[in-house]
Amino acid sequence: MQHIAIINGPNLNLLGTREVNIYGNQSFDTYLTTLQAEYTQVQLLYYQSNVEGELVNYIHQVGFTVHGIIINPAAYSHTSIAIADAVAAVPVPVIEVHISNIYSREAYRQHSYVSSKVQGVITGLGLHGYKLAVAHLLYHFDSLN
Ligand code: DQA
Repeated sequence: MQHIAIINGPNLNLLGTREVNIYGNQSFDTYLTTLQAEYTQVQLLYYQSNVEGELVNYIHQVGFTVHGIIINPAAYSHTSIAIADAVAAVPVPVIEVHISNIYSREAYRQHSYVSSKVQGVITGLGLHGYKLAVAHLLYHFDSLN
């Protein structure tokens, strides 16, 4: 069984209630249950933290054992060299997801330190972006066989 870690950064624990006009009204837990049910061939591990160092530690913890990582570093995308370095340090493919289109928002959101370290970026497609990232990783795993 393949394992994919989904990692969400700060404030994403409030999805469903936080700025619903931008991030929608669905909680991530509800979304994840649906997503896992759609992809029974893969085990999704989920981690969320509001703390930069905890995100770095978790990337180290799973980055040598799972088959792929999907990360939404949230506001740390725009500030954290430490998270970008952690992503660069692990051998598994990493996909960066943003729920909103960071390029249509404030200038300070339009640069992500993480983006140059990942295989690809999905931005602006809502929670559907996580599903597209899972689908891509499964396609990628198949292409390695
Ligand atoms: C976000 C975009 C970031 O700019 C913001 O700080 C977030 C969420 C997104 O998913 O659209 O918290 O990563």
